Amino acid sequence: MGPGAVGPNPRKAGVGLAGEGTVTGPGHPPKDRSVPDRDSPRVGEHQGGTTRTPRPLGEGVLFWERTVANENRRKRILTGDRPTSDAFHLGNYVGTLANRVRLQDEYDTFLLLADLHLLTTRINDLEEVGHNIHELVLDYLSVGIDHEKTTIYLQSLVPEVLELAWIFMSLVSVPRAQRIPTLKEVVRDLKLETASMALLSYPVLQAADILMVKGDLVPVGKDQLSHVELTREIARRFNDTFAPVFPVPDALVGSVASLPGTDGQTKMGKSLGNAILLTDDAETVKRKVMSMYTDPKRVRPDIPGRVQGNPVFTYHDAFNDDKAEVEELKSRYRKGKVGDVEVKQKLVAAMERFLEPIRERRARFAGHEGLVEEIITTGTARAKRECHQTLEEAREAMGLQYFRAMDGGVVTR
Ligand code: TRP
Repeated sequence: MGPGAVGPNPRKAGVGLAGEGTVTGPGHPPKDRSVPDRDSPRVGEHQGGTTRTPRPLGEGVLFWERTVANENRRKRILTGDRPTSDAFHLGNYVGTLANRVRLQDEYDTFLLLADLHLLTTRINDLEEVGHNIHELVLDYLSVGIDHEKTTIYLQSLVPEVLELAWIFMSLVSVPRAQRIPTLKEVVRDLKLETASMALLSYPVLQAADILMVKGDLVPVGKDQLSHVELTREIARRFNDTFAPVFPVPDALVGSVASLPGTDGQTKMGKSLGNAILLTDDAETVKRKVMSMYTDPKRVRPDIPGRVQGNPVFTYHDAFNDDKAEVEELKSRYRKGKVGDVEVKQKLVAAMERFLEPIRERRARFAGHEGLVEEIITTGTARAKRECHQTLEEAREAMGLQYFRAMDGGVVTR
């Protein structure tokens, strides 16, 4: 296997699928009517198992035969990350990365580095962003995202998405955008005086990301559900108003919807200082685990402890591949027959079994000069083709082509 190739996924260390499910908004039917022309073949794209024949339509114009059946066309995933930092943590892993790895064989997967989204809160401090992007791509590869299966691309290199976002903005009222819970949270957390236009439009841009590649499924953390819900509304509204161009995507939240921080806070966050990073070395992991928050009432090992809601056991459930060990520890813990130290030591060992292969793979990919750049360049070219095709369909549905003659009747960009 060459350095560019990606082998089998690293062990998923018991990151189970229980409790996982697609999310549909309240009151909405789970699956939608008339899912649009998802079969329109796309120029220059390889789609496994489907043959297509280009058909000359006229002078110098090549278009693809639209009637070609394309039942084999795989459903699509689109998901993404803002490059706000240079490392993913375990919460990101169980929340969304694990799903992306698991589903990339089944779905045609698009993975977006959402740097334009970053501008909404950070317009004048972009120095580190290039570095962050580089490191996050290495993290993707290290957990088993395979760039041959997953199209990894950079949002700012596909500014066409802004055109779709602009169109969508006309379909969303200001009060609707203001009701998105993340907006208030960001304004509060970043102590902003008020939201900028871009911040208000953030979820609309996200809808454009998803619908631009006609994403069917969006694996995300729980905090993103309101954005996917808005995306569903926008897709329906566009389809109802013009023509059925877009699928109505579902969100998919990970098996552990929200991994607590090492300090017991509900959310793990790098900036909260309570995160274990995929890139942490063995020593750091040990230190963080050994100082983890557990059942505060349990001052001595012979006092029966609470397993439910105890972060140490949440981590055991998520990462320890030795399920029998976990059950045995839980039962002794409940009876007051095991000390916190032993529970934590076993967690350290389990974490190492999970993280060591990831670190090894990361080092291997990092040693391959130019790999990340190549992945982004190739992925972006593919994403661009998809985006042009979708935009063309959207413009056509809207009748936004009254001067189409100007570009010769084909997509020229
Ligand atoms: N808003 C997402 C986050 O902060 C990042 C993101 C941007 C995204 N565009 C997306 C996620 C499209 C899923 C789909 O994590």
